Amino acid sequence: MAKFHFVEDYERLVRRLRWKYSLDEAMSRAVGGGGYEQIGQIEADIVAHAGLRDGQSLVDLGCGSGRLAAALGRKMSIEYCGIDVVKALLRYAKKKSPKNYRFILNRSLAVPLPDASCDMATAFSVFTHLLHHESYIYLEELHRVVRPDGVVIFSFLEFSEPDHWAQFKATVDVQRSATLPHLNQFLERSQIELWADKLGYHGLRFVGSTEAPWRTSSALGQSIAILQR
Ligand SMILES: C[S@@+](CC[C@H](N)C(=O)[O-])C[C@H]1O[C@@H](n2cnc3c(N)ncnc32)[C@H](O)[C@@H]1O
Repeated sequence: MAKFHFVEDYERLVRRLRWKYSLDEAMSRAVGGGGYEQIGQIEADIVAHAGLRDGQSLVDLGCGSGRLAAALGRKMSIEYCGIDVVKALLRYAKKKSPKNYRFILNRSLAVPLPDASCDMATAFSVFTHLLHHESYIYLEELHRVVRPDGVVIFSFLEFSEPDHWAQFKATVDVQRSATLPHLNQFLERSQIELWADKLGYHGLRFVGSTEAPWRTSSALGQSIAILQR
């Protein structure tokens, strides 16, 4: 089977972090900055804000080391399925989560779940590391996997957001002096609107990276797209 750039990127990143740091520190750094507990809490507040309720089901594409899973386990009672490309991250996520949570290692562009099998799907800080056509394929897959009227949420970086320029500049600087640990990708709202339309999503709204309409925690720092099947 073809080995995708995202598998190599994230396996290498996790291997390097494990060599340098304790398990907890490596697992936190592998999924980005901002704090494991704090970002998990914000992500859990976002899915609750978007309508996830007790008894419903969530698919978390690119679940990483379980920031969202751990926070959801403290907050509500749901069926959860986390998907990622790195075994070590999934192992750690499982340890941090309620016993009924499922985790799947998947290294393809397909989402290995049946049609209309969940209420909501998330991809937090995942399309920020994929090529545009890969993100488009996953959005098509998530459209298939959520039930009619189900919700798909993903976070993204955009050039029109002044806060995000620093991340692009940092990427440029690292690229000049070394090899990037993984791809950093920006998306624009016009592009997401077009994709949502082509893929047959019926609703789309954005939350800016400094906004927090859920009120219970602060802003995520990445922009958010909330799509309705
Ligand atoms: C920046 S981390 C975010 C993790 C998690 N969503 C969070 O917010 O804590 C990106 C995650 O996406 C995973 N990933 C990258 N490409 C993927 C793919 N094609 N399918 C599933 N997961 C992927 C990485 O292994 C990593 O765990």
